Amino acid sequence: MQWIKIFSNPEDAFNKVKPGSTQLLIVHQTRICLARVNDDFFAIEDKCSHNGEPLSKGRINYLGEVVCPWHGYRFQLKTGRESGERSRDLETYPIKKDETGFYIGL
Ligand code: FES
Repeated sequence: MQWIKIFSNPEDAFNKVKPGSTQLLIVHQTRICLARVNDDFFAIEDKCSHNGEPLSKGRINYLGEVVCPWHGYRFQLKTGRESGERSRDLETYPIKKDETGFYIGL
């Protein structure tokens, strides 16, 4: 696994990604949906497994799932699991943050 620096430090990430929001990252040509729930960050494949739409345009619900804006399929941010068991689960990516930066593992 390769750790890719996304933000220069954790504070930068907290400032740029607001709680309850999602953001598209393109890292080495991989589209990733970065999501923040309170002070926790999650990185999940950006492509909905139902019909390929971008989850970075979705919303986060109270269960910690990202909800696809097109047909409402829900994916658990921690595991990538599709909550309704209707389509395949998504890949998730580990996050590491310390004083040297904020990283995503690919
Ligand atoms: S494309 Fe995401 S639920 Fe249909």
